[in-house]
Amino acid sequence: MYPDRVLSGMRPTGKLHLGHHHGVLRNWVKLQSEYECFFMVADWHALTTSYDDVSIIEKSTWDMVIDWLAAGVDPAQATIFIQSRVPEHAELHLALSMITPLSWLERVPTYKDQIEKMAHKDLGTYGFLGYPLLQAADILLYRGNLVPVGEDQVPHVEITREIARRFNHVFGKEPGFEEKARDAVKKIGGKKSKLYEELRTRYQQEGDVEALESARALLADSQNISHGDRERLFGYLEGGGKMILPESQPLLTEAARMPGLDGNKMSKSYNNTISLREDAESVTKKIRQMPTDPARVRRTDAGDPEKCPVWQLHQVYSDSNVRDWVMQGCKSAGIGCLDCKQPVIDGVLAEQKPMFERAQPYLEDPTLVKSIVADGCERAREVARETMREVKEAMGLNY
Ligand code: TRP
Ligand code: SF4
Repeated sequence: MYPDRVLSGMRPTGKLHLGHHHGVLRNWVKLQSEYECFFMVADWHALTTSYDDVSIIEKSTWDMVIDWLAAGVDPAQATIFIQSRVPEHAELHLALSMITPLSWLERVPTYKDQIEKMAHKDLGTYGFLGYPLLQAADILLYRGNLVPVGEDQVPHVEITREIARRFNHVFGKEPGFEEKARDAVKKIGGKKSKLYEELRTRYQQEGDVEALESARALLADSQNISHGDRERLFGYLEGGGKMILPESQPLLTEAARMPGLDGNKMSKSYNNTISLREDAESVTKKIRQMPTDPARVRRTDAGDPEKCPVWQLHQVYSDSNVRDWVMQGCKSAGIGCLDCKQPVIDGVLAEQKPMFERAQPYLEDPTLVKSIVADGCERAREVARETMREVKEAMGLNY
């Protein structure tokens, strides 16, 4: 019914690192040539946890957008915009809040998790509870059915789907839908009408999926009802009516686990990152200082790459020839650890080179970035306005 559309976002929390590049941005760059894509700076979301220190948000936003551009996100293909500059996000969030049960939000696994993890902050706020609902608004505003996210965000895409369903159910009915549907049930005729009712009740009250299947088969078999009635009865089965907001699904990024400098997943909280545009000297130093197999105390001690975080980076940056050379040289003490690290250093620097080049014009002239974002916000708003028009109409706010 709607064309496939991708929406994703990132909170502006500071400069991005190579983990973001491998885990997220490479995927965005691929998607932008396959679908209509909207990439959003989730600054309202950043405020849900950083409301006590807003000083970094603006700089983080511009740094992050430059990192996106550096990684190859192309404003000629994708729409890059800032959430708070499209006020319809806040508006749809409010609209959806009317029909979102509190229990759905309290049940989201990240909710209690994060409150515990960030115990030093007071996250007992309304805004933080509403985090997934705001995310649902982000997605539904663009009728984005495809949402590229990591594993941790899947529950947020799921709740988005449930909210869309509920919205369509509550507001998506044509005038007199229930009545028309009930009339249509009678038209199926005799025993079959009664069976349809029974199956519908079993599905709606007990979630019995087999009952749903049987009822669908029954409808498909009923020759004596009109096309319109049949569609109504399909919708009535699931409690649906007209679809205003499409149901979204996560597009799971193929697990590109980017190891950090200590062998754990690269993450700011582990302090083991290399930033996307880190200067060559610092990259070299960080990799040279990486821990290695603890058994290799002296140059003459043999080691085991499996016990060394540098080896994990070779998986990302080296071809099989180099990896054979490492395996062999490490186990026989034929190479030193600094020799071994050099191809990784070279690999990281080579990966960063085009990113520096792409970032350069934006660093020289920041108005370029601002104008890309201004265009993006404009384009995003056009879509957002149209969705809100339909949402408001369905909610009786059609003045
Ligand atoms: N919650 C997401 C994260 O922390 C960021 C985000 C906000 C997002 N709105 C979104 C992601 C909409 C996908 C779609 O990573
Ligand atoms: Fe690690 Fe390479 Fe040193 Fe072996 S030679 S311990 S793989 S850095």
